[in-house]
Amino acid sequence: VKRITTHIIQEMKHRGEKISALTAYDYSMARIVDAAGIDIILVGDSASNVIAGHETTLPITLDQMIYHAQAVVRAVKRAFVVVDLPFGSYQGNSRAALDSAIRIMKESGAHAVKVEGGIEIKDSITRILSAGVPVMGHLGLTPQSIYKFGTYTVRAKEEAEAEKLLQDAQMLDEIGCFGMVLEKIPASLTQKVSQSVSIPTIGIGAGPHADGQILVLHDLLGITKEFKPRFLRRYADLHGIMTDAVQNYVKDVKSNDFPNEKESY
Ligand code: KIV
Ligand code: NA
Repeated sequence: VKRITTHIIQEMKHRGEKISALTAYDYSMARIVDAAGIDIILVGDSASNVIAGHETTLPITLDQMIYHAQAVVRAVKRAFVVVDLPFGSYQGNSRAALDSAIRIMKESGAHAVKVEGGIEIKDSITRILSAGVPVMGHLGLTPQSIYKFGTYTVRAKEEAEAEKLLQDAQMLDEIGCFGMVLEKIPASLTQKVSQSVSIPTIGIGAGPHADGQILVLHDLLGITKEFKPRFLRRYADLHGIMTDAVQNYVKDVKSNDFPNEKESY
């Protein structure tokens, strides 16, 4: 199989072929997602919520992100693997940002890193890029800043925030990022940004005009049952399927139905 590269992702934008992306955090899931033909796998810091059960993405550590990334990389044959730099590992100090990015690249074998924010972290992004590490940006709703926003509602509905987002997007393009996530912003702003930058935009809750789409795998599969924002389309009800399976197993164990003769040695 031919591996997806930043070059191929860039060409997709120019051809008008939409880019498909999903998160994964472990070997078994990443294997399925990769073999099913996804273009980009993000080892998201949403692992903090989905895997570790934290309320926010803030507590997950660089070591934990590397553990997830290692498992995903072992599974992937085709997709381009991007890893989130976690909160506290890149803001404010470009040398620390570079060290974090290098640890991820060296210890996991992933292909790129993702960081949240615009002009505030320009120095960090520039320094990571200077080491030859591809960087993906992330603008709009940036969950590592949740305590600044106060809520997970739609961002950049007002003119001033929309204008800053557009400038941040152009900056990410100019300094050499290979793409950016746009999270939970109006569809019209996504369209404007996507037309005014040369690199691909990957939307989540950002409408149909992004150059690609991303979702959290456990949301798409219907494993996370309570989380139902308007932007989420569920492609399966694994919560129901898994609950039935476990209940049937419990029943069969209790009733001495499992294991039967054929299942014994
Ligand atoms: O961590 C994550 O899952 C993400 C995506 C939602 C873009 O950053
Ligand atoms: Na993230």
